[in-house]
Amino acid sequence: MRKYILAIPTAIIIIVSCKQKTGNEKPPYVAPFVDSTYAMQKVEEFKKGKILFSENCTGCHFPPEKQVSDQYMFENLFEKLPAPAEDYFAKYIRDDAALRKSGDKYSNALYENYNRAYSHAFSKFSQNDIDQLIIYIRVADKAKQNGVLLIKDK
Ligand code: HEC
Repeated sequence: MRKYILAIPTAIIIIVSCKQKTGNEKPPYVAPFVDSTYAMQKVEEFKKGKILFSENCTGCHFPPEKQVSDQYMFENLFEKLPAPAEDYFAKYIRDDAALRKSGDKYSNALYENYNRAYSHAFSKFSQNDIDQLIIYIRVADKAKQNGVLLIKDK
């Protein structure tokens, strides 16, 4: 439990500092200044995102932190989605059929690749919900990649 609590702010700091990178070159390592109010706010967003994910997505998707061999869909998701990735994610989750209709290549290719399995239509999600899902997915995926266990696998 203690490990869980410590792991989330650490993972968030990693993610937030990664996000600020431009280009591919690695900036020199600078120890991050930890604003605890900001970090705790992000922890709250993470927790809400995790709940949103488990209520709406786990019927079909393994949670991004789960250590399973065939789980790759959420790996580096925001580096993979067309830029700007966070806006793209919002459009995709809210109405991926509309995105495909507009001629968007990525969503059309994905749809074909999965034999036209499913269309996401979570138009009920507010921008807040989307932001919480994004922070949850980013943190949970990075934690998995760094071997930090956020939840116990069942
Ligand atoms: C009924 C099953 C189902 C549900 C529920 C579902 N998805 Fe999906 N999702 C899929 C399938 C199947 C695909 C593959 C593409 C396709 O068939 O359209 C996919 C693709 C995705 C992708 C694209 C991944 C990539 O490789 O780019 C993202 C992101 C995603 N889903 C997120 C979510 C989120 C977040 C939720 C919950 C809010 C959710 N999905 C709910 C079935 C589902």
